[in-house]
Amino acid sequence: MEDTGTVDWAALEAAAVAAMKNAYAPYSKFPVGAAALTRDGRIVSGCNVENASYGLTLCAECALVGNLQMTGGGRLRAFYCVDGAGNILMPCGRCRQLLYEFRAPDMQLMTTQGIKTMDQVLPDAFGPQHLEETR
Ligand code: THU
Repeated sequence: MEDTGTVDWAALEAAAVAAMKNAYAPYSKFPVGAAALTRDGRIVSGCNVENASYGLTLCAECALVGNLQMTGGGRLRAFYCVDGAGNILMPCGRCRQLLYEFRAPDMQLMTTQGIKTMDQVLPDAFGPQHLEETR
């Protein structure tokens, strides 16, 4: 069922902070937690998981989209990401792309500049539509 009510940003923040506490970040010592509200009202979350081979580190958003897919899939309505102090963190470029794939059309992100849309944080994005166009 589709949930079109107002976004409970405090609940998303709490879920992101809870996720951040599970982070595995022994190398950067920079734990990250991310949480998102799905269109059907679930909250999915993730933390960063680093690796001794540094470049293989998984961002919190990687775990979040895995969690999304593993718990029923669907689309993301709202997103919140925090650092180890619980402050709002902007998703890195790669993670904006990951989130773009699963966005609801009106997806919103809490940013350091307030609430923004997916299109504002990843303008002119490459996406599934481009693959369709060339087929
Ligand atoms: N990190 C995330 O988990 N998500 C982001 O969007 C930005 C960066 C993590 C990766 C790494 O474990 C740590 O933050 C420092 O870069």
